[in-house]
Amino acid sequence: IRPFVVAIDGPAAAGKGTLATALAAHLGLPYLDTGLLYRTIGKIMADRGWDLDDGELAGQLAGALDPEDLKRPDLRGREAGELASRVAVHPQVRAALVDFQRGFAATPPGAVLDGRDIGTVICPEAQVKIFVTASAEVRARRRTDELAAKGRSVDYARILDEVRERDARDSSRATAPLKAADDAVVLDTSTLDRDGALAAALAIVAAKR
Ligand code: C5P
Repeated sequence: IRPFVVAIDGPAAAGKGTLATALAAHLGLPYLDTGLLYRTIGKIMADRGWDLDDGELAGQLAGALDPEDLKRPDLRGREAGELASRVAVHPQVRAALVDFQRGFAATPPGAVLDGRDIGTVICPEAQVKIFVTASAEVRARRRTDELAAKGRSVDYARILDEVRERDARDSSRATAPLKAADDAVVLDTSTLDRDGALAAALAIVAAKR
């Protein structure tokens, strides 16, 4: 039987990761957070003092990526997210990561993948495509609250600027820009909590299975 693939795309801080993790657990499928691939490359480049704008070099690093590197502890933060979006503009980097992502999705029983271009580029044949979004204000508020819960004092206005800047960079790049696939179901989580978002996503999956 054909592997069952769920593609989850959307902008930064829309709740993709939380939703994809819960969905994968419910469906009994492995989960790949593809943002981690770009975060890892950005972080290694920065550690080594390499030029983030050097697409050739970044592409070589992406081609030689060791899955063990994805377990680095410092990949979840804002800094790694920024570095990720800078290296993610390079076509060499994106091309080098295609096979790994497609191989993950094609392995039975299938997978849940989240990112920016899963439904459009990586798995255009996915049985389920969900574009998870929320207003920039709601996303910035969630991120500010998350950081505050960790005891960090952060300025909402600054986070909102960062969210908008990352949206602009991800949406305007020439290669694989952030956009909903034509056949994706758009799930706006602005007024949903985690459970509400999961219930809505499970309903979308049920309709396609
Ligand atoms: O999803 P996450 O916030 O971890 O992604 C970090 C950055 O990596 C994004 O802002 C985007 O620039 C890049 N990315 C991408 N394609 C993906 C996943 C992430 O370009 N499939």
